[in-house]
Order: sequence, then C-alpha cells, then structure tokens
Amino acid sequence: MSDLSPSDAAKLAAARAAVALVQDGMALGLGTGSTASIMVRELAIRAQAEGLVLRCAATSKATADLAESLGLPVEGLDAIGHLDLTIDGADELDPDLNLIKGGGGAHLREKIVAASSDRMVVIADPGKVVEQLGAFHLPVEVIPFGWETTRDRITAALDGLDLDGRPILLRMRDGAPFVTDEGNHILDLALEAIPDPLTLNRALNAIPGVVENGLFIGLCDLALIGQPDGSVVELAVFREDEAEDET
Ligand code: A5P
Repeated sequence: MSDLSPSDAAKLAAARAAVALVQDGMALGLGTGSTASIMVRELAIRAQAEGLVLRCAATSKATADLAESLGLPVEGLDAIGHLDLTIDGADELDPDLNLIKGGGGAHLREKIVAASSDRMVVIADPGKVVEQLGAFHLPVEVIPFGWETTRDRITAALDGLDLDGRPILLRMRDGAPFVTDEGNHILDLALEAIPDPLTLNRALNAIPGVVENGLFIGLCDLALIGQPDGSVVELAVFREDEAEDET
C-alpha cells in the first residue's frame, strides 16, 4: 500500500474488509464513488480467484460499466428483486450510521438499492465520520420541470425547520446543469448542520418535484472505516426492526 495516499490506503482497507463479507451465491448491490470503485475492483479479483457465483445490481451506469468491464455479472435490480448485501461509500456518517450520500449524484439509485438489501455496509475513510451531519452539502435530486419553483418550496421548508438562510446551489458540470442517470438535476443544500435528519428527510421528500434527497436514515447497518495503516474500525448500530426479524 506504500504508493497509495493515506486516503486511498484507508479506502482500500475498508473495501477489502467489505469484500470479505461476500459469500458465494449472494445477490449484491454495488455502490458508486471512488471508494465503491475500489471495492468493485477487489470484488472482481476475489470472485475470479475463488470462482464465486454472484448476482450484482449497480447503483449507477458508471458502476455497471466498471463491474462489467471486470467480468462481474450485472443485472437490473428488478431481475434480481431482493439483495443480500449492498456495499457503498458515503459522504458523511454520524454515530447512528445515518448518512449523507449523493456527492456523485447517484443517491436516488443508491437509496433504492440499499432499501432492497438485507444489509447495507458503508465503506469509508476516517474523514467521512462526523458527530453531526450537514457540513457536506446535502444533495436533493429534482425533476427538471419547474426546478426553480421546487427550489423555492425547499427554501420555504427549510425556513419552517429553522434551517433558513443557507444557499441552495444547482449542481453544474461543464457549464451546464448536472444531469443524473435518471435525467434529473441536483440541488445542493449548504446547511452546515442537520440537527434532525429524520424530520428534514420527510420534509424534503414531501415536496412535489423532489425525487429523493441524500439522507439515508436507518439504512446502514455496519460501517467499515479504513485507516491509512490498513486496519479497519467497525461501527455498528442495533436496530429494533432487525431484532424483530430474528424472532
Ligand atoms: C455517490 O452518489 C455517493 O453517494 C458516493 O457514495 C459518495 O459520494 C462517496 O463517494 P467517495 O467514495 O468517492 O467519497
């Protein structure tokens, strides 16, 4: 790992720890982003070496292309239906393993895939771990039709939650509005702090024109935080719904 940056060494450690959780015959959700890309490469190496039979659903076109180029079988989510395990990165994670995702603009598919999985494992470097979500701009995917009206409704919703006075930025790429895999735009909310992620998640998704926001509440079961020295710190939360599933 010596030629890797500390951040990339941490991502690789987390990715390898997550790939070690994969078992033969599993249906997997493959995340998006730089950490998830490292994981996909490690998964392909292990699958080939051990002859693992896997079914994979990707959370973005980019991940699907990468996985297929490495020989991993990628299918549509509906063709698989239910997933055993999703492995994905995150932009921020708090002590309850609530997340901000969508820095890469893929949080809509990422949330659908995570919600379709028995288990979501997040892989990250230590810089993603925060006490409170919100320093990272919260991505909100919106329908292009009437997006400025939708933005104004988001502003009003933030006002109602005392999260007012913060800029809302239309994500741009190459001088034009960024377009997601689903053909939508992204508004990035510079909130600085999100004291009540659950309430904000509900408020945003209740606005017409909002497709999905980047808050992942109660979806992540385990976070594997890679360290630059190659070790991994595990962060886990106990969820009541899982206890009910086991009874
Ligand atoms: C993609 O839309 C995101 O949710 C990524 O999972 C997140 O931005 C983490 O990406 P990195 O691993 O590149 O930091």
